[in-house]
This record gives sequence, structure tokens and C-alpha cells, in this order.
Amino acid sequence: MTALDAVSIITTKRDGGELSDAQIDWVVDGFTRGEVADEQMSALAMAIVWRGMTRRETAALTAAMIASGQRMDFTDLPRPTVDKHSTGGVGDKITLPLAPLVAACGAAVPQLSGRGLGHTGGTLDKLEAIAGWRAEVPVSRMREILADPGIGAVVCAAGADLAPADKRLYALRDVTGTVESIPLIASSIMSKKIAEGTAALVLDVKVGSGAFLKTLDTARELATAMVELGTDAGVRTVALLTAMDTPLGRTAGNALEVAESVEVLAGGGPADVVELTVTLAREMVALAGLDVDPADVLRDGRAMDHWRAMVRAQGGDPDAPLPTAQHTETVLAERDGLLTGLDAWDVGLAAWRLGAGRTRQGDPVQHGAGVEMHAKPGDSVAAGQPLLTMHTDTPEAFRRASAALRAAITIEAGSALSRGALMLGRVGV
Ligand code: URA
Repeated sequence: MTALDAVSIITTKRDGGELSDAQIDWVVDGFTRGEVADEQMSALAMAIVWRGMTRRETAALTAAMIASGQRMDFTDLPRPTVDKHSTGGVGDKITLPLAPLVAACGAAVPQLSGRGLGHTGGTLDKLEAIAGWRAEVPVSRMREILADPGIGAVVCAAGADLAPADKRLYALRDVTGTVESIPLIASSIMSKKIAEGTAALVLDVKVGSGAFLKTLDTARELATAMVELGTDAGVRTVALLTAMDTPLGRTAGNALEVAESVEVLAGGGPADVVELTVTLAREMVALAGLDVDPADVLRDGRAMDHWRAMVRAQGGDPDAPLPTAQHTETVLAERDGLLTGLDAWDVGLAAWRLGAGRTRQGDPVQHGAGVEMHAKPGDSVAAGQPLLTMHTDTPEAFRRASAALRAAITIEAGSALSRGALMLGRVGV
């Protein structure tokens, strides 16, 4: 066998060649152990951005990143496991009502999540707004929670040994302009989800201004690559393509989104959040082989019971008042008309400027900060009517946040707008 070296692997990919499984294993292993230098891995990532990867290469990269750490195994649980992953959007709080809903339908939901960076908040940041709630759960406790028919769902931080090669590579891609590559994104997301040990997975691939994929074609390409990776690894995988041009629901920001999720679990909440929660739950329940309609389980309060048990199992108090920001300021409509646009990216940017998100890994977030939306596209508005309320503990942020919100709003003449579809497509069995 010829000796492997980083430079020949980089030049092979740079010149449009195909890497062997042995080359991919070698470079990922060497990078994880610090023997392949950051600058070499960055050069390889850039070559992949330009030249792409075949399905076999992408599968080998995913397998090598899984093998860099521990793969969890929940096959001995008495309930089928199923998880969901969203590629991230503004106001995307769906995991909060979804995990207890699917657990209440009879599945076990092991969800390893992250903290947010940039304009879309992370699920752990939202749940940490609940007094006492802890994201760190040892694997032995995860197992107990998942096996418990009264709980069945755990949303917690991924341990350091879950796909560590991806952790290092993603941090490098973030600062070298090499995030935007279908094989790199697909292998990054799927290495973590496969290593998490779920038997089935539903992917929510967001499309639009507030998502990192702006067009339906690229989103479908990513969805297809991820479904192939999951299927090849023995994980039953389906992807939905869903709209992210305007925020989901009426809130963006940690405690604000928890409150809205609790409304959904109580049988209310905004129609788009309810629709997406129930649609994803139906896909998850079907993949888990269960014959239950999640809409019934949401309606009769069982999902709420599981939410309360799930929060308590991680040290949280579901009855504690949620934190509120010290200052609020409201943005008013400047004219009469029809709200035809409320741009997700700009609303996410405003929430982030108000303190709901972080700039650097490890920074704290403000639990009460964010944006509350009093109108959504399709609503008629009158000049002077409150459109959006900003919440923050740092009122100096109002000026730049309101500039982002003003850019988000489009009001036009007219009286009727057909609301765009939320569901844009589906990939998988
Ligand atoms: N999320 C990930 O986990 N990895 C990527 O590459 C992009 C988004």
C-alpha cells in the first residue's frame, strides 16, 4: 500500500480527483489527532468546496467523522427511537413542542442539540431560559429518561466525544469561508445525528431568506445528500423542505419562544407553528412504526404532560415564571396597507442585536431578549399600529435592532395576499 500524505490528498481533490476511503479515513484521523495541520485541512475543505464529492466520498467522510468519537446505541430501549434535525431558522422553536409530542405518541426522542451562533437561536439557549433546566445529561441518565414511558424525550448538549472531528472541522470551516458545500454540510450534520444512535430521523431543511440555503434547488440537493447518508448508515431518514422567508410563529428569542411553545402544547399558538409541529410529528411517528395521530395527542393534553415531565427530568421548573427583559420598545406601522413581507433574516438579526444570540462561542445570551411580532404577512395594518415589540436588557441596542426591523417590513397597497405555503417539498421513503 502506498504511504498516505496530506499534500497528495489535497492535490488529488484540488485537481478534481476522487479520494479513496483509505485517504479520507487517514486525513480525518490525522486531523483529529493534530497530525494533519489546520492549514492542510482548510486547503482540503476549500478543494472540496470547489470540486465537490461523490456519494461514496461523502459517505466515507461521514463514517470517518463518526469513528473519530463514540457512537451511542439505544437499540436496547423498549421504545423505537426517532429524532428531528432542523437546518436552522428564525423563530424555529419546533423542537420544544415536538419532542414531548412524539414521546407522548410512544417513541423515544434522543435529541442532542447545540447552542446558537449568529442570527438563529439554538434549542439549548431557549430551554436554558427555564429556571433550573440543565443541558448536560450523562448518557446513563439519558437512557433512563428515554425508557420512562412518562417522559421519553431528552434534549441535551452533545458530549465532547460525539463526532469530535466534525467539531474541529466545523470551527475551521467557519473561519475559512468553507461552510457552503453540500458534501461538507451533509456529512457534518449527519455524522452527529448518526453517532447519536437514533434509528429514524426527520430532517427539516429550511429554504429562504432566513435560512442558510436560499433556493429550493440547493435545499433539495442538501436534503437528498442527507437522506442518502442516513439511509446508507441504516437510519430511516426523511427530509421536508420548509419555507423560511418569514419567521416561524410570533416570537424570536429564547424565553419568548418557550412561552409560545407552551401555548402550542396547551392547544393554542400560531397556526404555522402548530402545522409544522404536527406535520413533523406525523413523519416521525410513521418512521417509528407507531399508529397514532399526533394531532389527537396534542389536543388531549398528553403532549403537555410529557413536556412538564421532560423539563423536570432535566432539573427545570415548568411552573416558574419565564425571565422577561427589562426594557421594551415597539415599532409602529408607518402607513396603512397590507403587510406583504416580514423578512426572516432581518428579524433574526434584530433579535441577535437585542441580545438573544451570541457573537462568539461561549458568550452568554439574554434569556428575555428578542422580538415579538404582532402582525404577520397577509395581515392588513393601519398607520400607527404596533407591528413589533423589541425586548432587551441593553436598551442601547434598540437603535440598531429597530433599523433591522424597519428593513424587514414591507407594507403595500392591497387587501389580500395569499400566504405562501410552509411545506415546499419532501425527500425520502
Ligand atoms: N450545521 C452543521 O452542523 N454543520 C454544517 O456544516 C452546517 C450547519
